Amino acid sequence: MAENLQPTTLVILGVTGDLSQRYLLPALAEICQSSDIRGHLKILGISRHQITAQEILKNHAQSLAGQFTTYQMDYSQPAEYQKLKDFLENQDTQQIIFYFAVPPDAVLPIVDNLGKAQMNTSRYKLLMEKPFGTDLASAKKLIKEINKFFKEEQVYRIDHYLAKEMAQNIAVFLGSNALFRDVWNNHFIEKIQIVAKERLGVEGRGNFYEQTGALRDILQSHLLQLAALTLMEPCPDVFDFSQVQPRRLAALNQLSADVDSVVRGQYTGHKEEVNSPDSNTETFISLRLKSSSPIWQGVPIQLASGKKLDQKLTEIRVYFKKTQAAQANLLRLRVQPNEGIELALWVKKPGFEQDLQMLPLDFNYQQYFDKLPDAYEQVIVDAVRSRMNLFASSDEVLASWAILQPVLDTWGNKELKIYKPASTLKEVLNS
Ligand code: BG6
Repeated sequence: MAENLQPTTLVILGVTGDLSQRYLLPALAEICQSSDIRGHLKILGISRHQITAQEILKNHAQSLAGQFTTYQMDYSQPAEYQKLKDFLENQDTQQIIFYFAVPPDAVLPIVDNLGKAQMNTSRYKLLMEKPFGTDLASAKKLIKEINKFFKEEQVYRIDHYLAKEMAQNIAVFLGSNALFRDVWNNHFIEKIQIVAKERLGVEGRGNFYEQTGALRDILQSHLLQLAALTLMEPCPDVFDFSQVQPRRLAALNQLSADVDSVVRGQYTGHKEEVNSPDSNTETFISLRLKSSSPIWQGVPIQLASGKKLDQKLTEIRVYFKKTQAAQANLLRLRVQPNEGIELALWVKKPGFEQDLQMLPLDFNYQQYFDKLPDAYEQVIVDAVRSRMNLFASSDEVLASWAILQPVLDTWGNKELKIYKPASTLKEVLNS
C-alpha cells in the first residue's frame, strides 16, 4: 500500500462536532491501526475552543497516540489563517488535506479565507461532505466560488455510498464477468429498482432535515450515484478503476426524471419529532428515471428511499425479462447489510411432482472476507493517496442536480402521503 503515500497532515475543521466524533475519528483510529498509513499521517484537530487531544480522542487515544494534536482558532478571523499557514508550513509534511466537518454555511467563508491566505497551492486539498448545493443554481454557485481558489483536482467531494465495498464492486462485476456484460441492456433487462430503506427516523437532526428532505439528503447523491454505477458502459478493454468516474458522469448525463412519477411521503410522528406542526418535508421519496442511452431505452429505473421503514437495506434489483420459453430472473446487488450478490434462478423442486421453484445463487462477502473497510476509512485512505475515483466530480454534482431540477420546479404541488412507521415500500406507495 505504501507506493502512493506521501507525508500528509489531515486538518479536521470542526473536530468537536458530531460528524468528526461519530465517523471520522473512529475511521482514523481503525486505519491507523490496520494500515501502513500510520507512518505517513499526522492529524490536526481544529476547534474554536481550547480543548486537549485527550478530551477529543476519548476512546481512540491509544490508536491515535502521537499522531493527533489540537489547534485552536476562530474561523471568522482572516488573520488567524496566516498563523495557521505558518504553523502548517513548519510541519514536516508534503500534502495538507482540510476535512470540512463544519456546518454547510461555514464552508464557503473558510474556503475563501484559505484561498486568500494562499493555502491553495497544489499541496493543499479539500475533503468535503455534502450538501453540494440545494439545487442546480446553488450547486453551480458553490462550485464557482470554490474554483476561484482551488482546481478540480484539489477538491474531493465525499459521497460515502461510492466508497461502500459493494458499490465499488458494481463496476467490476459488470465489467469483468462475461456472463453479465453481454446481457446488460434493454434486450434482456425489464426494469431496475434501486432502494435505500432506513429503520431510523431523522433522530437528532431535525433542523437539518427540515431544510433537506429525502430527495436532497439521499436521492440526489447516493441513489443517483448507484444508478450511474449500474447504468454506465463498461470499459471497452480490461477493467480499469480510473475509468469509472468519467463513465459514471456519462451515465448521469443520459438520465432524466419522470416528474409525474414522483411520490413524496412523511411518516406519522415526524411533525412532532421535529416540532413543526406544518412540516411539509418528505421523509420518503420515489421516482422513475429514464436513460437516453440506446442500450437503456425503454427500461424504467425506479429510485426509492425513506426513513422509518420496515428495515435497513440498500440494494439494486435488476429484473431480467421473461422470454417465451423461459422464466424471468432477478439479480440483487446488496449494498448493505449483508453485502453480496444474489441471482434468483428457477430450479426443479426435488420430488415426484414437476414443479419449479425460484431459489437464490448467493455470494456473500462475509463468507470470504474477514472484514470490509468502513466507507469513511476508504475515503480518507483514497484522499491521502490522491485517488479521485470514489469522489464525486463537480460535473457529476451538476449532472445530478440537472436531473432533479424539473422535479424541484414542480415540488410544491405534490401531495405528501402519510405512512406508518415500519411500513414496507409497497405499503407507502399504495397508501
Ligand atoms: C447520509 C444521510 O448521507 O446517509 C443520512 O445524510 C442517512 O440521513 C445516511 O441516514 C445513511 O447512510 P448509511 O451509510 O447508514 O446507509
